[in-house]
Amino acid sequence: MSVIKVIHDHRSIRTYKPDPVPEALLQEILAAGIRASSSGNMQTYSIIVTRDRALRERLYEPHMEQDMVLDAPVLLTFCADFHRMRQWLRLSNAPDNFDNFMSFMIAAIDAILVSQNVALAAESRGLGICYMGSTLANCDQIGEILQLPPNVVPVVGFSLGYPDEDPAPRDRLPLSGLVHDETYHDYSDDEIRQIYHDREVAGWARYMSFPHLRQLIEESGVENLAQVYTAVKYTRQSHQEFSRTVLNYLKSQGFMNN
Ligand SMILES: Cc1cc2nc3c(=O)[nH]c(=O)nc-3n(C[C@H](O)[C@H](O)[C@H](O)COP(=O)(O)O)c2cc1C
Repeated sequence: MSVIKVIHDHRSIRTYKPDPVPEALLQEILAAGIRASSSGNMQTYSIIVTRDRALRERLYEPHMEQDMVLDAPVLLTFCADFHRMRQWLRLSNAPDNFDNFMSFMIAAIDAILVSQNVALAAESRGLGICYMGSTLANCDQIGEILQLPPNVVPVVGFSLGYPDEDPAPRDRLPLSGLVHDETYHDYSDDEIRQIYHDREVAGWARYMSFPHLRQLIEESGVENLAQVYTAVKYTRQSHQEFSRTVLNYLKSQGFMNN
């Protein structure tokens, strides 16, 4: 299958067959994943492959009780990781300048690029994935369960396995609303309404199609999709709490020293 077709066929998979992912296939997609570009070719990331059921059961709660943690045979956690590099620097008597926020960002970008490469490689082989934002939101609890040393922070993660559903591809905002020619062109209110018009219809219909979400939305009294995003899904309080978690964990993992 062409790369562009694999990309266009993507849809998140949240229901999985119990079939294991063959080890050779897993190794193949991971090997493809690490072909991603990385800052200075330092490869400042680690990929944690979790198959063990007992470990996945411990990860279930910090992953906000999302069923795919238990149902998919594999969970991949992509971590920003300067631990390995800093150890090498020490062994090589080289200065170590990587205990700061910039280093975290470099490592996080490396980790995220690898994750998406692995995702596409997996999808090209008939596997499905679903990212979980809980990886970052609860990075401290997940880091503890995965026994991460200092300088390692979980950034993104996804479930991996054979799909047991065939969802239609989800909508995207129009390309013209996302791309700017040469420099940034700010949006008029009318342009914003136009860009989000189809999303408002499709997104609202989708949320209302899940009985538990419909109930939550109706109980909260929100009237449109934008309100669902910030009054129900991503509240100020939850985002402030998760921000504190991430900042505290970055500090305790040695990324905020100067
Ligand atoms: C960083 C990130 C975190 C996500 N977290 C979750 C999640 O916790 N649970 C979930 O069901 N989907 C999650 N998703 C999947 C998105 O909901 C999904 O990609 C988006 O709705 C578009 O749908 P599609 O992937 O099927 O095209 C996440 C995606 C990303 C990139």
